[in-house]
Amino acid sequence: MKEQLAKIRAEALSALENARDSAALDELRVKYLGKKGELTAVLKQMGKLSAEERPAMGQLANEVRAAVEGALETATQKLEEAALSAKLKAETVDVTIPGRPIRLGRRHPMNAALEEIKEIFIGMGFTVLDGPEIELAELNFDRLNAEEGHPSRDWSDTFYFDEDSRVMLRSQTSPMQVRAMDTMELPIRIIAPGRVYRKDEVDATHSPMFHQVEGMVIDKNVTMADLKGTLNLLAEQLFGAGTVTRFRPHHFPFTEPSCEMDVQCHKCGGAGCPTCKGEGWIELLGAGMIHPHVLEMAGIDPDKWSGWAFGMGLERTAMRRFKIADLRLIFENDVRFLEQF
Ligand code: DAH
Repeated sequence: MKEQLAKIRAEALSALENARDSAALDELRVKYLGKKGELTAVLKQMGKLSAEERPAMGQLANEVRAAVEGALETATQKLEEAALSAKLKAETVDVTIPGRPIRLGRRHPMNAALEEIKEIFIGMGFTVLDGPEIELAELNFDRLNAEEGHPSRDWSDTFYFDEDSRVMLRSQTSPMQVRAMDTMELPIRIIAPGRVYRKDEVDATHSPMFHQVEGMVIDKNVTMADLKGTLNLLAEQLFGAGTVTRFRPHHFPFTEPSCEMDVQCHKCGGAGCPTCKGEGWIELLGAGMIHPHVLEMAGIDPDKWSGWAFGMGLERTAMRRFKIADLRLIFENDVRFLEQF
């Protein structure tokens, strides 16, 4: 029996040492320590021993059991540790690997120019208004002194929604002047940027949808000098100190007198080049003193109040601001182009 126990001990310990996974350990536990296990089988024979032999053999059997149990525990622990370190190794994060670059978007040059324009006017106490792109012809034309028969009302120029030409895509931001006069307290200082629509073919300087920024001031004793001063300040802040402007007489139905403002070409400094089509100047906006009849139609007394207004092309301004040669680049949204700003 002594030899039997010694043999069980030796076999069990070596088997446990070589066990590769928890299933194997389980099998060994059953094989040696289980109810029908080898050690149990030996203990069952204890009864056959003499009274003198029994205590010594019992003690030995207990020692073997303890040894096998101890080895089982050690083996279990070893397997768990191995599993843990394998898992840690598999989940290792190398914090020294450079991160994947995140591509940051850029502000569209037109939004960038608009942001600057807004900042300049907000700094002078103007309010920024937003208004509908689907507009009544009454506000887009009639209330701005462009009566029936005015060429800009023609179907070939304007997107109408109905046969009677009453609802349209606004062809200018100028109806925002009327909306401001109808809803705001005097004095008024507003700008109103937004989209406008005209039946134009796409080319280097035209698009059926483009953007304008309308501006308007109505107050007491407002003169053309205020208009010129404000717009010159705008030009210098947008395009840099010393930017040269010129005001040319023009005609708009809702202003009297009317003018257009040009800025000297940034490419040639006024000598004439392809960018300015040989003119030396780039047209930026239309402006003028608000026609007394336009004030009257809004219920504003032209003997007490006067005002000026302007409407500038935003694409054109952005092109001048960021030295962009072709209008189509602004709408194509090619990232290679947009990334430059
Ligand atoms: N609405 C005009 C256009 O689209 C531009 C304009 C001219 C606006 C004179 C004004 C203005 O406010 O006073 O051509």
